[in-house]
Amino acid sequence: MDLSKSLSESDGTVSGMTSSVFNEVLKSNPYFAAGGGLMLLGTGLAVARLTVMKGATFVTRQMLVDLEIPSKDKSYLWFLEWMAQYKHRTSRHLSVETNYTQHDNGAVSTKFSLVPGPGKHLIRYKGAYMLVTRERSGKMIDMTNGTPFETVKLTTLYRDRFLFPDLLDEAKKLALKAREGKTVIFTSWGQDWRPFGQPRTKRLLESVVLDSGIKDEILLDVKDFLSSGEWYHKRGIPYRRGYLLYGPPGSGKTSFIQALAGDLDYNICILNLSESNLTDDRLNHLMNNIPERSILLLEDIDAAFNKRDQTEEKGYTAGVTFSGLLNALDGVASAEECITFMTTNHPEKLDPALLRPGRIDFKKLINNASQFQVKQMFLRFYENENELCEEFINKFARLGLNASNVSTAQLQGLFVYNKRDPKSAIEMVETLKNPNTHQF
Ligand SMILES: Nc1ncnc2c1ncn2[C@@H]1O[C@H](COP(=O)(O)OP(=O)(O)OP(=O)(O)O)[C@@H](O)[C@H]1O
Ligand SMILES: *[C@@H]1O[C@H](CO)[C@@H](O)[C@H](O)[C@H]1NC(C)=O
Ligand SMILES: *[C@@H]1O[C@H](CO)[C@@H](O)[C@H](O)[C@H]1NC(C)=O
Ligand SMILES: *[C@@H]1O[C@H](CO)[C@@H](O)[C@H](O)[C@H]1NC(C)=O
Ligand SMILES: *[C@@H]1O[C@H](CO)[C@@H](O)[C@H](O)[C@H]1NC(C)=O
Ligand SMILES: *[C@@H]1O[C@H](CO)[C@@H](O)[C@H](O)[C@H]1NC(C)=O
Ligand SMILES: *[C@@H]1O[C@H](CO)[C@@H](O)[C@H](O)[C@H]1NC(C)=O
Ligand SMILES: [Mg+2]
Repeated sequence: MDLSKSLSESDGTVSGMTSSVFNEVLKSNPYFAAGGGLMLLGTGLAVARLTVMKGATFVTRQMLVDLEIPSKDKSYLWFLEWMAQYKHRTSRHLSVETNYTQHDNGAVSTKFSLVPGPGKHLIRYKGAYMLVTRERSGKMIDMTNGTPFETVKLTTLYRDRFLFPDLLDEAKKLALKAREGKTVIFTSWGQDWRPFGQPRTKRLLESVVLDSGIKDEILLDVKDFLSSGEWYHKRGIPYRRGYLLYGPPGSGKTSFIQALAGDLDYNICILNLSESNLTDDRLNHLMNNIPERSILLLEDIDAAFNKRDQTEEKGYTAGVTFSGLLNALDGVASAEECITFMTTNHPEKLDPALLRPGRIDFKKLINNASQFQVKQMFLRFYENENELCEEFINKFARLGLNASNVSTAQLQGLFVYNKRDPKSAIEMVETLKNPNTHQF
């Protein structure tokens, strides 16, 4: 049977061509008639389908680009936040993120924000369409914080691929703007550090009044330390510095550290050494994994170990041991810079082993109010009241309070009570004589 002959005989259209070919084949060939023809047809269709699919994949490969952001990456949260505020998007899958804060007085404040939920979303960014796919990957859970492992995939045309960096940059800026001028407080959470509450507004250094020269001295020392990383590395000295601020309660130690962090644009990592489930291992791990640009703050270090003795009587071996702290302070040196601030009200209770250089390199007494501080604080609360300030200081001295008998916190209390009335503050100086009276 001659196929070309039968083709030329057909009516010329493609379908007519095929049908006539098949008719001829089927009629003239007993093998095809027995089902082999069907097989050929199936194979042909399969090949065609495969070709189309391959073609589509080829087009996808050539024309589309995607960017994957895993949930472990820093930009992940930035991107979701950005998406939540982005106007040109169509999403039907939203998920809610609620920030719930219970205040000390029992009041509750919540903030809802709708972020794109798992699923597909289409956005238009600078004229380009992008498909955002947020997926949970099954049962995988991020072991470090217990959240499901997720990825966000951005897909766009190849020619628009330059927009990815722009977009991420914009998302980053947006997130950082929310934190600008803020100090983030981190606390330990299991094995790692977590932000504690909302970022706080920076405290201004000028708002903390220390005796003359003290602030500058500490600030200069810290800045010098921060700028001499190379010096330390060259000499093989661990790049860390420990500061101890000691003095009576309410003299501004904690406030100063907060203000210092704000001034340096650093965050604060607070570690409570008295926490009963903080072990030596965890302490070591935490101290070697401090978020960058952070000050480690250990408050009331004298109290941490007195408490341990009590718990040990009850048969617990909970808490950090003293040697655990010493080792963590100068143990396996991490390459990163590390500024540690410690505060105490009872420096005499501290073990000399803790005070040795390398663990504590800089000690400073932050004492009760000196005459200098009284004057500064008065003028901070009542601006330009120079004569009244003079009067206040004289009365203060006459009562014998100038021999550092009054804490700055007490002074603040007096001034806050008499917010708008410096004269009545002067009248009430006597109340400072007894630190326990609060009946201004
Ligand atoms: N020198 C100061 N300048 C400005 N404010 C101060 C000063 N000292 C204390 N205050 C105010 O007193 C309060 C308590 O201060 P802060 O917590 O810093 O004291 P502290 O020295 O850390 O006390 P403690 O040793 O009990 O922890 C804060 O509200 C702070 O504003
Ligand atoms: C430590 O104990 C506190 C309460 O005492 C608890 O909230 C916290 O989850 C515990 N942390 C760990 C890692 O067990
Ligand atoms: C909620 O608070 C946490 C920490 O305080 C913060 O990381 C997160 O971005 C906040 N979420 C929203 C939607 O504001
Ligand atoms: C530190 O932990 C102890 C014990 O859990 C607690 O009594 C103390 O108030 C905590 N201190 C701070 C500053 O959170
Ligand atoms: C306190 O004031 C008295 C009287 O003004 C003065 O003699 C004394 O030196 C002052 N003491 C201090 C520590 O400043
Ligand atoms: C002030 O403190 C000194 C010692 O620091 C003490 O001798 C004096 O009695 C105190 N004065 C008052 C009024 O408390
Ligand atoms: C600081 O002032 C308080 C009163 O507020 C007093 O009890 C304490 O003894 C003073 N401390 C020093 C070191 O003078
Ligand atoms: Mg404090």
